Amino acid sequence: MCGIVGYIGERDAYPILIKGLKRLEYRGYDSAGVALMNGNLNVYKKKGKVNDLVDFIGTSNTKGNMGIGHTRWATHGIPDDLNAHPHLSGEERLVIIHNGIIENYAPIKEWLKTKGHTFKSETDTEVLIHLIEEIQKDGDLSIEEAVRLALTKVVGAYAIVVIDRLDPNKMVAARKSSPLVVGIGKDEFFIASDATPIVEYTNQVVYLDDNEIAVLTKNDGLKVINIENEVQRPLVHEIDMKIEAIEKGGYDYFMHKEIYEQPNTIADCMRGRLNVQEGWARLGGLSQYKNRICNADRIIIVACGTSWHSGLIAEYLFEDLARIPVEVEYASEFRYRNPIISEKDVVIAISQSGETADTLAALELAKKQGALTYGICNVVGSSIARVTDSGSYIHAGPEIGVASTKAFTGQVTLLSLMALTIAYERGTISTNRYQELISELGRIPKKVEETLKCDDQVKVVSEKMKDSSNALYLGRGYNFPVALEGALKLKEISYIHAEGYPAAEMKHGPIALIDENMPVVVVATNPSAHEKIVSNVQEVKARKGVVIAIVNEGDSVLKEIADLVIEIPLTLEPFTPLLSVIPMQLLSYHIAVMRGCNVDQPRNLAKSVTVE
Ligand code: M6R
Repeated sequence: MCGIVGYIGERDAYPILIKGLKRLEYRGYDSAGVALMNGNLNVYKKKGKVNDLVDFIGTSNTKGNMGIGHTRWATHGIPDDLNAHPHLSGEERLVIIHNGIIENYAPIKEWLKTKGHTFKSETDTEVLIHLIEEIQKDGDLSIEEAVRLALTKVVGAYAIVVIDRLDPNKMVAARKSSPLVVGIGKDEFFIASDATPIVEYTNQVVYLDDNEIAVLTKNDGLKVINIENEVQRPLVHEIDMKIEAIEKGGYDYFMHKEIYEQPNTIADCMRGRLNVQEGWARLGGLSQYKNRICNADRIIIVACGTSWHSGLIAEYLFEDLARIPVEVEYASEFRYRNPIISEKDVVIAISQSGETADTLAALELAKKQGALTYGICNVVGSSIARVTDSGSYIHAGPEIGVASTKAFTGQVTLLSLMALTIAYERGTISTNRYQELISELGRIPKKVEETLKCDDQVKVVSEKMKDSSNALYLGRGYNFPVALEGALKLKEISYIHAEGYPAAEMKHGPIALIDENMPVVVVATNPSAHEKIVSNVQEVKARKGVVIAIVNEGDSVLKEIADLVIEIPLTLEPFTPLLSVIPMQLLSYHIAVMRGCNVDQPRNLAKSVTVE
């Protein structure tokens, strides 16, 4: 959460910062601010979006070849002008932007008050910059040394960038559990929470590691030390991110673009890993630990939100095809319930961003207890990708809409490849079944393209559902997690209360909610459960519920009973989620647009949840 951007070099910093903040706005959009260094420190900050900040700044002085910018997702203190970043120190010599939480800010604040400090905001960040100032003053220290010593006193997570007015050619950044990327240009540096504000200027980047402090000095290169003051050797990576990937490309919203990218992103995920002609599936990340994974007692999957739903689908895939017991855990619960983990377990973390704090913490716990850890991430170089023993990227490209779409189908594709690879190694499926599944997986990108043609039917359904206050989503087997995912999508971007349920479980409670005002979206695309789901639909109809059924082409039975149907292509049961989720994504998208919601930036949310 919160987006950080900084620039130091010969160019005008302001346009770079504003453009960067717009690219990072998906990380938080409660308030935004910039600080520009031009002999003086000019700080501008405003509640609202980056455009509100730009309007507020108007024609004020934005000169400076060095500056920092921040877009906020509030943790400490309501979203308002005072709590917005950057924050100045008491003597207004230092300025900071911060992503994360300083957990022990309260005692530090009390101590600083005894030293005469007063505070303007309610934030933990302001406390940190006062602490840095106090330490700097006390020892007459350089800014990097003051930052380093201050960080030895704080507990929590942070990515920070600090500027010292009296040291105008330097910018100091540090990270612990919140990402920071340094971009290296010619006589210039960029710093950001992720690479999106940097890619248009350079493809040379350094990912800071936890407890590292970067000192970016004009005309004097990059120096990285750790919190113990030991000099580190930064590894320069070349990133391969196209500028078109982070622009809307003619779509009104990133989410819409990302939904339509899925035929390609799924194909990208399979590239080099699935060969239909030769009949194999393979994952590089698995090879090194093949024996350990194939002989695991258990696979434990930790994830949050949409990634947790992918994990649930993996439970069906791994148990059905590879016959390995699977447990799927909310990362936030797993880490606090003293779980039993052994060296014979494999813990898979699924995360689009690779930065979700709960998932990272769950992984660390699993590592400590000896499990093998495997990361399934989208963001290359992200924390989860780096801390796990092995892993695979889904290669979906930047996902900017807060509602996850192409990352979900990328994760499910990757997990399908993984299940097939393990099943083959373990000999738990016949050669014929293996070949049948390989061939069908190869057809999925084309079938997703065909599925997207249901958009017009989805619009009709959206019109009918857009004014509802509640909705129920039902599914069975492989499509139960899809029902959960459909409900989450509707909630998060349309603000309609929705619940996902296993269709057969409905009669144990939620059926009491059904009347003529309750739309019930039923995912009915798994062939093996068709008759059962028809019975569930009958139960809803008998209570006057309005049934919207997602069905396979040619399903005359449900067409007859349901109020509205959305038809999608038929596929083999394990891959049905990859198709049935598409109308769910489109449904939430159209309803949100019809309700006038900001699809890409739903209220109270942020794309990457790097705090507990
Ligand atoms: O980056 P991650 O996959 O770890 O994020 C997990 C959740 O925060 C995320 O899936 C969230 O639920 C999405 N907004 C759902 O669309």
